[in-house]
Amino acid sequence: MVGMGELQGKKIVVTGGAGFIGFHLCKKLSELTSNLTIYDNLSSGKMENVKDVPKAKLVKGDILDLKKLNSLEKADLIYHLAAQVVVPYSMENPIIDFDTNAKGTLHVLEKARKDDSKVVFASSAAVYGNSTVFPTPESYGFHPFSCYGLSKVVGEEYCDMYRSQYGLDIVITRFANVYGLRCHGVIHDFLDKLTANPGKLEIIGTGLQSRDFVHVSDVVNALVTMGSEDSANGQVYNLGYGTTITIIDLAKMMLKILGLEKKTFVTTTGVSWQGDVTEIWFDNSKARKELNWNPTVSLEESIKEVIADRKLSK
Ligand SMILES: NC(=O)c1ccc[n+]([C@@H]2O[C@H](COP(=O)([O-])OP(=O)(O)OC[C@H]3O[C@@H](n4cnc5c(N)ncnc54)[C@H](O)[C@@H]3O)[C@@H](O)[C@H]2O)c1
Repeated sequence: MVGMGELQGKKIVVTGGAGFIGFHLCKKLSELTSNLTIYDNLSSGKMENVKDVPKAKLVKGDILDLKKLNSLEKADLIYHLAAQVVVPYSMENPIIDFDTNAKGTLHVLEKARKDDSKVVFASSAAVYGNSTVFPTPESYGFHPFSCYGLSKVVGEEYCDMYRSQYGLDIVITRFANVYGLRCHGVIHDFLDKLTANPGKLEIIGTGLQSRDFVHVSDVVNALVTMGSEDSANGQVYNLGYGTTITIIDLAKMMLKILGLEKKTFVTTTGVSWQGDVTEIWFDNSKARKELNWNPTVSLEESIKEVIADRKLSK
């Protein structure tokens, strides 16, 4: 992998390291450095994830607690993943969402300014809103359609300010739909529903909304490169597989793998949650070219892995 050697021995902090992506990232980073700190308030993160990265040190804390954040040992590199990540929740609780994702990011940047640390900021496809250009390139710009998307835009804008005015090394990455073992999201929702009742699967929305699923191991490879390569500083990168699949086709794929395609009755609610976007399909050519990134894990193979992990397979 490009640049892995550059992280050896570095003091690295991962906010949100007890969460889904944070766990996989910390697992990889713990092979590269012995000085890894997870900073997480465990609101959605899990102790199980922390325990499974035994070389990392957990500091239980909130990114809104600037004093505690600043009391952490000086960091060379901060991966900022901690966030409120649920779109419908952001629409019902815009102030909490803003505090965590916008103000919280500002706090992390203040810690970085104090330490002169490099920052890799996890942003989202949600900053594009309902894109009209497919596949969507980084240059499409900000058109958020949810409070979550808007709070990520504010986080990105602060990153840009700290980069231009304070000279911090910052990389922004926008994730499409990251999945894999221990994730939450539509794949796991479907598996939960099918476990409870294999005869029925209800899709929220029309089922025609489509997503770009990228495996967490591919994302982690790119994050390591972003953290280690100076050439990534000041850049914004889409991380998606570069394809799109409708949710109804995802459901059909999963039912086929499970041998349930003739046994499960699929329904749709028609109406989705507020802030839901119609299509996510990333242009990932910039990350491929500049980071030498090559996402390889196929959706079908990985769903089989997730199902096997949940002991649902026959
Ligand atoms: N999973 C995806 O498909 C996806 C897509 C786009 C963007 N992202 C972004 O990637 C990042 C990681 O997402 P994830 O899927 O791993 O989510 P997650 O919910 O599993 O992880 C978020 C982590 O942040 C922690 N956290 C939340 N609020 C905090 C606070 N105030 N202080 C300290 N810690 C706090 C949680 O406890 C959790 O461990 C987030 O920034 C998210 O917005 C994820």
